[in-house]
Formats: sequence, structure tokens, C-alpha cells
Amino acid sequence: MISSFVRFVALCLVAGNVVAAKVSLTPDNWGLPAGEECVNCHSKSSSGLTAQWKGSAHAEAGVNCLDCHQASTEDADAITHEGHVIATVVSPKDCGRCHTREEKEQRGSVHAEAVAVIKERMPAMVTNLAGPAIEAAGCAQCHGSVVKLLGNGKLDPNTWPNSGIGRVNPDGSRGSCSSCHGRHEFSKAQAREPQACVRCHSGPDSPDKEVYEASKHGMAFATHRDKMNLNAETWVAGKDYSAAPTCATCHMGAAGKLPSTHDVGMRNAWNLNTPVSERQHLIVFEDGGKRELPASMDAPRRGHKVPKMDGSMGKVKMVATPERRRQAMTMVCRECHGKDFANAFMDQFDGVVDLYNNKFAVPARSIMQALYAEQKLTPTPFDEPIEFTYWELWHDEGARARHGASMMSPNHAWWEGIYVVSRNFYSRFLPQVREVAGDSADALIEKHVTSRDPHRWMSKPNASSPILGVGSRQVGDD
Ligand code: HEC
Ligand code: HEC
Ligand code: HEC
Ligand code: HEC
Ligand code: HEC
Ligand code: HEC
Ligand code: HEC
Ligand code: HEC
Repeated sequence: MISSFVRFVALCLVAGNVVAAKVSLTPDNWGLPAGEECVNCHSKSSSGLTAQWKGSAHAEAGVNCLDCHQASTEDADAITHEGHVIATVVSPKDCGRCHTREEKEQRGSVHAEAVAVIKERMPAMVTNLAGPAIEAAGCAQCHGSVVKLLGNGKLDPNTWPNSGIGRVNPDGSRGSCSSCHGRHEFSKAQAREPQACVRCHSGPDSPDKEVYEASKHGMAFATHRDKMNLNAETWVAGKDYSAAPTCATCHMGAAGKLPSTHDVGMRNAWNLNTPVSERQHLIVFEDGGKRELPASMDAPRRGHKVPKMDGSMGKVKMVATPERRRQAMTMVCRECHGKDFANAFMDQFDGVVDLYNNKFAVPARSIMQALYAEQKLTPTPFDEPIEFTYWELWHDEGARARHGASMMSPNHAWWEGIYVVSRNFYSRFLPQVREVAGDSADALIEKHVTSRDPHRWMSKPNASSPILGVGSRQVGDD
């Protein structure tokens, strides 16, 4: 069972080997002699940058400035610089000339879709609530910009500098490898640190930094950092280190027979940043492209045609069901924990997602849909207070609760999570529904809330009042 599963995962990840893939070009293909000129002059004109390169694995292997920055005259962003045709942007496609496996995995990942995913929301957030300046300085810094050119190969300052995770490059490729591997060191040790992810994965809606730091894993990492072997050639959990997992361990790293991957979404069974969470199939197409489909739909079979993310039809190569994706994640845990421990933890986590979905998310969404359908709300997003309440319910506290439960922070699961969801559901959302819905409010709330089991406590008052606080009780009070 496990061995066929490992084969499946390995196929999915285009890897035959657990250990890091070595570059696929031979040394004859790099170390362009003219690159020496770049190094010599840039040692003076930008000595810091050149020093970073000099300390890198690239310098050691003889990969120089021109090997990465070389361009052809047809490239939209090509410039002639000191007698050479170069481009400033070094895209995943450029890195992929040597690192084929990492480039291919990254290309099919949710990270590479990060620009596509924000298009629909831009008008509501950027146009209504903010202004164009926030697109470049906010959204695009994490998700990625569409890099534009001014002509003569000059990059448009409204769209660059940028190292967003799904950046759309002048050559059409998506992503920027330097979002995790800071330039010009491009170190793998750096990318194994939690710090590599937290620039984007922190804050009210995706508080992975805060969740991790508050978990026992974060505690173990902080206290045993020196035992993490971050500079090791291979970095297999359970073999090369065991003190603690980092973000990269669980979402990307090799563990036992599970190969490492540059597709961070592969091992996630749920989507946790949606109004209602659903378990997701991962569809892998013949051409290496991927997309997710809710598990409430039947999984398409091998050979079937299914629309891809860009709308064109793709032929299905294989489907990773949520169960298989969960199994891959659990293989990581099992390098350091027992099977029953890992499975029981996952049950606790799934329980919080089900609680969030059934008690709050589904009723709130149904009520909002009814309010729009009955034209009690205008179709314009964010012009009515209840729209902010609903948005924060799922996007902020709702996401926090789910991230907290999935990554072992009791504080985020409850105090920053479900507690705030609940407070806002009962004390802001429902009162606002009453204001907006008028005559139909009682029926609406009865149908979606008070008639349902998790909310029956409201009509059965409980005499005890713990909210007065245990400390306020005096001896002899009762
Ligand atoms: C004789 C000195 C010299 C040589 C040789 C040289 N550079 Fe430069 N390069 C500079 C200077 C100075 C700048 C900064 C120019 C400026 O202020 O925009 C620069 C800028 C750049 C930029 C940024 C361009 C931009 O406008 O965004 C890149 C990338 C670059 N060099 C790469 C290279 C590469 C690759 C080579 C080797 C083919 C090379 N350089 C050779 C001096 C040099
Ligand atoms: C492993 C590939 C690689 C090598 C080797 C490399 N670069 Fe870069 N360089 C990049 C990437 C990636 C970027 C980020 C550009 C982007 O995509 O936004 C970059 C950006 C730059 C920039 C503009 C950004 C800035 O911070 O000013 C300059 C200038 C530059 N490189 C010069 C050099 C010089 C000089 C060398 C040799 C000493 C060199 N590069 C070696 C990949 C490389
Ligand atoms: C600090 C970095 C950061 C900024 C700034 C940011 N995002 Fe995100 N965004 C993320 C991360 C990380 C996720 C993935 C969350 C997850 O899956 O847990 C995400 C997810 C999303 C999603 C998909 C999930 C969802 O919420 O439906 C959308 C859409 C989105 N962001 C839109 C935007 C828009 C529009 C802006 C700017 C107005 C923006 N984001 C600004 C980091 C950021
Ligand atoms: C989301 C963060 C992230 C991004 C983006 C990213 N990497 Fe990595 N990369 C990592 C991590 C983490 C490791 C260390 C993996 C390990 O050792 O388990 C790594 C390791 C590597 C290695 C060493 C060999 C290996 O696989 O262990 C290479 C080469 C590499 N990355 C190339 C790339 C290229 C090329 C891109 C862009 C297409 C890229 N990376 C984008 C996080 C990232
Ligand atoms: C011309 C070939 C070539 C290009 C282009 C190239 N690399 Fe490399 N890279 C190598 C070689 C050779 C090594 C060292 C041997 C190895 O680790 O396989 C290496 C090593 C690495 C490592 C491991 C570093 C460590 O700490 O051990 C990372 C990460 C990496 N490259 C990322 C990138 C990224 C990101 C790009 C594009 C910006 C890139 N490389 C472009 C050839 C290349
Ligand atoms: C430059 C910003 C940035 C960095 C750095 C970054 N991410 Fe992300 N990440 C995002 C955005 C934006 C999304 C949402 C993309 C989407 O929904 O298409 C995301 C999504 C994810 C997801 C959700 C996948 C899913 O199934 O929905 C995971 C897991 C993840 N990232 C892990 C990591 C890890 C681990 C690291 C560090 C090794 C990292 N990310 C580094 C911006 C970033
Ligand atoms: C001990 C393993 C572990 C560590 C460490 C860890 N995660 Fe997670 N992460 C998980 C699990 C398990 C899930 C839930 C997966 C699922 O959907 O079944 C998750 C979910 C996520 C999601 C939400 C994905 C979605 O489907 O919306 C993001 C984003 C994420 N993690 C990023 C990070 C970042 C960034 C770090 C480090 C700061 C980190 N994780 C550390 C195990 C881990
Ligand atoms: C590299 C080793 C490693 C990996 C991989 C790992 N953990 Fe842990 N985990 C630890 C360590 C160390 C602790 C702290 C143990 C202690 O002192 O209680 C811990 C603690 C925990 C705790 C808190 C336990 C308690 O009794 O308080 C939970 C829950 C947990 N891990 C779940 C997971 C899950 C689920 C996964 C996989 C998604 C996972 N871990 C992956 C090393 C790991």
C-alpha cells in the first residue's frame, strides 16, 4: 500500500529519487568566459551584490553572472550592456535551463497561480477600498506583478522591483525563484528556514508565522536551531534532522520515502482560505499542469478531458484525492511521531474545520446569498457594514481558526479564531442581518440559525454565568 503510494507521489512529483536533484546541464554548459568581465567590474560598482554571489554554491560551481543574465536579442527585456546582451529579470524559465525538476514542480503549483487568483477580487479591494498604489506595494509584493516594459528593455517601475510568488515575467513564465532563495546567494539553507515564508504568510488572514511560532514545533525550532542541520546537502526529516519541522519540512521537504517537492500545495487536503472549506482533488494533466477540484465532485478518470486553469482543455494524467494528499502529509509527521498520534491530530484538526463550516460558514453564506437575491443588499461589495462583517468572518478569523487548528496553535484555533468567529457571528452579523432584512429577518434567522442544532442553546437559557469570571466570586457568594 505504502510503496505503491510512494510510487504514485514520486510520479506526481516527477522525481525518482528522494534526494535533491542535481542540475541537469554539464559543467561545459556554464562558466561563460565573458562572465569574468561582469564579476570584475561589478566587484567595484556593486561590491555587496558580487560578494553575495562569491559566497554562493553557484560561484563555487563556476556559474557566473552571464550564465544567468544572458538573453537573446528577441527577448522583450533584452538590453545591450557593456557589449553583451543581457536581461535583468532572471525568470524561473532561465533557472530551469539547469534546474529542470524544481522549475517544473513550481510551474504546476498554486504559487504559480498567485496572480491569476487575485484578478477577480482586485476591483472590490483595490478600486473600492484602496487605490492603484496598493496594487504595486501590497497585493503584488506577495502575489506577484505582471512585469511590464517601457520600451528599450526598461522595466516599468510600477511593476518592478517585485519578487511576488506568482509574478508574470516578460517571457511568460510565472513566479520568481528569488522569493524564497534570496539573491545573490540562492541558498537552500535559507529556504529551509521558516523566515523564508513569513514575508507573505503572516498577518490576519494567513497567520502561519504567528501560528508556527506559537506551536510546539516553533518552540522546538527556536530552542534547537543549532541541531537543524540546515546546511546539509540532503535534508530528509528523520534522517538528516529530527529536532523540529519547519514550514518547508511539512509542505516541501523530503521525509522517509516521500520525495521533496517545489509544489507547496501537493500535501494539503483542504482549502482553508475560502468562505466554506472543501476537501480538494488535485488533477495532474499530461502536460504537467495542475488544478484543484472540490471532492464533492466525482474525480475525473485518467485520459478524460477537463478544463485547465486557463480555460483550455487538458487530458488527465492522474488524480490525487484528498485522502492521498493527507496520506502524504502524514508521512512527514510519522518520521517524528507515531501513526495513531498523527491520525488523531488530523481528526482534531478536521473537527475544527467541520465545526467552522457547519455552525458558522454555511449559515452565514446562505443568509448573505438570500440578502443579495432579495435585493436587501446592493450588488456592490463593501458599501454596507454587513459586508465587512461577513468578509472578516471567513477571510480573517475564520481562516485564522482553520490555520491554527491545522498547525497546532491552540491560541489561534480558539482565542484568535473560533472565539472571534463566534463573537462576531452572534454580536455583529446577526444584529446586522436584522437591520438589513427587516420583515424577513426572523424567518431567515430561524431557517439558517436558530432551528439548527448547534444554535439551540440560544433558546434554552443556561442559568450559570461564567462570564462574570471565577475571580469575581467571593467566599460565601452562593
Ligand atoms: C565596466 C563595468 C561593467 C561591466 C563589464 C558590466 N557591468 Fe553590469 N552594470 C555596471 C554598472 C555601473 C551598472 C549600474 C548602471 C546603472 O546605474 O543603472 C550595471 C548594471 C547592471 C545590471 C542592472 C541593469 C538594469 O538597468 O536593471 C545588470 C543586471 C548587470 N549590470 C549585469 C551585468 C552582467 C551580466 C555583466 C556581464 C555581461 C555586466 N553587468 C558587466 C557595470 C558593469
Ligand atoms: C543564479 C543566477 C544568477 C546569477 C549567477 C547572478 N544573478 Fe543577478 N539576478 C538574478 C536574479 C534571479 C535577479 C532578480 C531579478 C528579478 O527577476 O527581479 C538578479 C538581479 C540582478 C540585478 C538587479 C537587482 C538588484 O538587486 O540590483 C543586478 C544588478 C544583478 N543581478 C547583477 C548580477 C551580477 C553582477 C552577477 C555576478 C556577480 C549576477 N547578477 C549573478 C540571478 C542571478
Ligand atoms: C502579505 C502578503 C499578501 C498580501 C499583501 C496580499 N495577499 Fe492575498 N494571499 C496571501 C497568501 C499567503 C495567501 C494564501 C492563503 C492560504 O492559502 O492560506 C493569499 C490568498 C489570496 C486569495 C485566495 C484565497 C482567498 O482569500 O480567497 C486571494 C483572492 C487574494 N489573496 C487576493 C489578494 C488581494 C486582492 C490583495 C491586495 C488587495 C492581496 N491578496 C494581498 C498573501 C498576501
Ligand atoms: C516557496 C519557496 C521556494 C521557491 C519559490 C523556490 N524554492 Fe527552491 N527550495 C526551497 C526549499 C525549502 C528548498 C530546500 C528543499 C529541501 O532541501 O528539502 C529548495 C531547494 C532548491 C534547490 C536545491 C536542490 C533541492 O531541490 O533541494 C534548487 C536547485 C532550487 N531550490 C531551485 C529553485 C528554483 C529554480 C526555483 C524557481 C523555479 C525555486 N527553487 C523556487 C524553496 C523554494
Ligand atoms: C547555468 C546553470 C545554472 C543556472 C542558470 C542556475 N543554476 Fe542554480 N545551481 C547550478 C549549479 C551547478 C549548482 C551547484 C550544484 C548543485 O547544487 O546542483 C546550483 C545550485 C543551486 C542551489 C543550491 C544552493 C545551495 O545552497 O547548495 C539553488 C537553491 C539554486 N541553484 C537556485 C537557482 C536559481 C533560483 C536560479 C535562477 C535564478 C539558478 N539556480 C540558476 C547551476 C545553475
Ligand atoms: C512572496 C510571497 C510568498 C512566499 C515567500 C511564500 N508564499 Fe506560499 N503562498 C503565497 C501566496 C500569494 C499564496 C496563495 C496562492 C494561490 O492561492 O494561488 C500561497 C500559498 C501557499 C500555500 C497554500 C497551498 C494551497 O494548497 O492552497 C502553502 C502551503 C504555501 N503557500 C506554503 C509556503 C511555504 C512553505 C513557503 C516558504 C518555504 C512559502 N509558501 C513562501 C505567497 C508566498
Ligand atoms: C508540522 C507540519 C507543518 C508545519 C511546520 C507547517 N505547516 Fe502549514 N499546514 C500543515 C497542515 C497539516 C495543513 C493543513 C493541510 C490540509 O489542508 O489538510 C497546513 C496548512 C497550511 C496552509 C493553508 C493551506 C490551504 O489549504 O489553504 C498554509 C498557507 C500553510 N500551511 C503554510 C505554512 C507556513 C508558511 C508554515 C511556516 C510558518 C507552515 N505552514 C508550517 C502542516 C504544517
Ligand atoms: C522533524 C520532526 C517532526 C515532524 C516532521 C513533526 N513533528 Fe510534531 N513535534 C515534534 C517535536 C520535537 C515536538 C515537541 C515534542 C514535545 O516536547 O512535546 C512536536 C510536537 C507536536 C505536537 C504537540 C504535542 C504535544 O503533546 O503537545 C503535535 C500535535 C504535533 N507535533 C503534530 C505533528 C503533525 C500533525 C505533524 C505532521 C503534519 C508533525 N507533528 C510533524 C517534531 C516533529
